[in-house]
Amino acid sequence: MNYKGRKIGRPLTKQKKEILNEVLKKNSIYLGHRDFDKFFSPFLPPLNLEIGSGSGEFIVNQALVNPEKRFIAVEPYINGLASLASKIHSLNLKNITIFPDDALKLINSLPPNIFENIFVLFPDPWPKLRHHKRRIIQKETLNIFSKLLINNGYFWFASDHKEYCRFTLLLFQNHKSFYWTALNSEDWQKKPLSWVDTRYEIKARKRGIAPVFLNFIKT
Ligand SMILES: C[S@@+](CC[C@H](N)C(=O)[O-])C[C@H]1O[C@@H](n2cnc3c(N)ncnc32)[C@H](O)[C@@H]1O
Repeated sequence: MNYKGRKIGRPLTKQKKEILNEVLKKNSIYLGHRDFDKFFSPFLPPLNLEIGSGSGEFIVNQALVNPEKRFIAVEPYINGLASLASKIHSLNLKNITIFPDDALKLINSLPPNIFENIFVLFPDPWPKLRHHKRRIIQKETLNIFSKLLINNGYFWFASDHKEYCRFTLLLFQNHKSFYWTALNSEDWQKKPLSWVDTRYEIKARKRGIAPVFLNFIKT
């Protein structure tokens, strides 16, 4: 698999393209990949999924601090992919696999009970009402996330967009398989200690906006 056909933004340097292609060749999975079923087998140790990993700050750090765990980064945009690939390459990380396409294609093609954590950090908020249907958080995707998480697995959501946070909280609280873990306000105002700041978190804080961190357990 190479980067051709992915969503393109700024042109990449020759070196970035080469690294991206090399990393995608070794560390990617896609629909139709000959090892797809084996990779997502429910009989292997659970995986961790990040949807919209952007430049990869979060998943790279998680992969470094949890070397025994397997991670999947889902990102369709070429520039984010190239930054993620450069990090994987320079740190020689073996436990991140990239799905370089739309997350909906992936999550609709997976067997149940395979993820211990699903992370959606600073997703595009699609603020206009008529665009809400483009949000990754929907009643239908919650059903899929619930199917894909193991029992007592976690779904993590972070955003600096207050209305999207309320929208997400409402959908999760109305879902029969999810339970919001927060016990006090600190639990949604602070992220876990091992998390690094992502590019979009840094952008939000520069604008003076404190993000919200929501964590739900699948029961
Ligand atoms: C606002 S950025 C946040 C990136 C990163 N999580 C961060 O916090 O810096 C949203 C990311 O989600 C990705 N994205 C948007 N729609 C997606 C989809 N359907 N599947 C996977 N990723 C998607 C975008 O390409 C973008 O990189």
